[in-house]
Amino acid sequence: MRIGVLTSGGDCPGLNAVIRSVVHRAVVDHGDEVIGFHDGWKGLLEGDHRKLDLDSVAGILARGGTMLGSSRVQPAHLRDGVERARGHVADLGLDAVIPIGGEGTLKAANMLSEAGLPIVGVPKTIDNDIASTDVTFGFDTAVTVATEALDRLKTTAESHQRVMVVEVMGRHTGWIALHSGMAAGAHAIIVPERPFDIDELTAIVGERFSAGKRFAIVVVAEGAKPRPGSMELEEGGKDMYGHERFVGIGNRLAVELETRLGKEARPVILGHVQRGGTPTAYDRVLATRFGWHAVEAAHRGEFGMLTALRGTDIEMVPLADAVQTLKTVPADRYAEAQNVL
Ligand code: F6P
Repeated sequence: MRIGVLTSGGDCPGLNAVIRSVVHRAVVDHGDEVIGFHDGWKGLLEGDHRKLDLDSVAGILARGGTMLGSSRVQPAHLRDGVERARGHVADLGLDAVIPIGGEGTLKAANMLSEAGLPIVGVPKTIDNDIASTDVTFGFDTAVTVATEALDRLKTTAESHQRVMVVEVMGRHTGWIALHSGMAAGAHAIIVPERPFDIDELTAIVGERFSAGKRFAIVVVAEGAKPRPGSMELEEGGKDMYGHERFVGIGNRLAVELETRLGKEARPVILGHVQRGGTPTAYDRVLATRFGWHAVEAAHRGEFGMLTALRGTDIEMVPLADAVQTLKTVPADRYAEAQNVL
């Protein structure tokens, strides 16, 4: 069998672990040939690729980023390129293509699968918002990085009697905010799923200082929004891929809290540091299992499917189902964390 693999969309710790696993399972156990497309869908559209053998994936298990490179492609560009992609798949004699990506990539994968290409998807995103899988690799690493940052910020906040407003990633969902906030014992956790009330937030932080505490930590997901009428927030418009541009909720909340409470507040934007660097052991294992199962699915001819973690098992689920909805934080999960707004 000949298998093509690519990584698309925002990078994520564990991508290299999937690539390595695909190559190991395919080459060693099945005697397959594997090629990697460069820079995501762009590589497939342009036929830009290289052969992946065991030597080429040596030493990448613990490395962050993606050895193949990644990029975003506008959906219309990909739609226009279906025949080109089909041509490259045929010219290269590929029996399967394994795209590894998040929401946008999986939508594109589904579109190519419906157009008849032999696709087996692998989900990735630090945001953990793919509904079909219990967890995506990259999430555990992002939560670990954010938790360490929160732990560190506590000591400096306490020394200066400050409020630290820590903005974490989470475009549509607050999984990173919820988990890192719970793990670090944050005093308020704000997520996109539940618009916040600035008066309520001010009261929670204010009461803490009134009770004699010397600092407060607020975790806010980048996509969080105020309740209508609670606070004006400028709109940032959309980028060329149709993604909302954020205007900096962390900065804004720090200014609001400082003004309202008369306490010094500092914003900390964790940004892409959550996505960089070595994956945790959990993410390496999940990524490796996804790669292994993607190759097996290809050999069984199970195309149009996605690897998914269900409980402790890896199952194959239809790509078409995976792109219907995002996995948002449910209300009962908020309830388990204190001071969720
Ligand atoms: O989808 C993952 C994610 O990390 C989001 O949380 C974040 O908004 C986005 O990627 C940022 O990606 P980039 O800056 O690479 O476009």
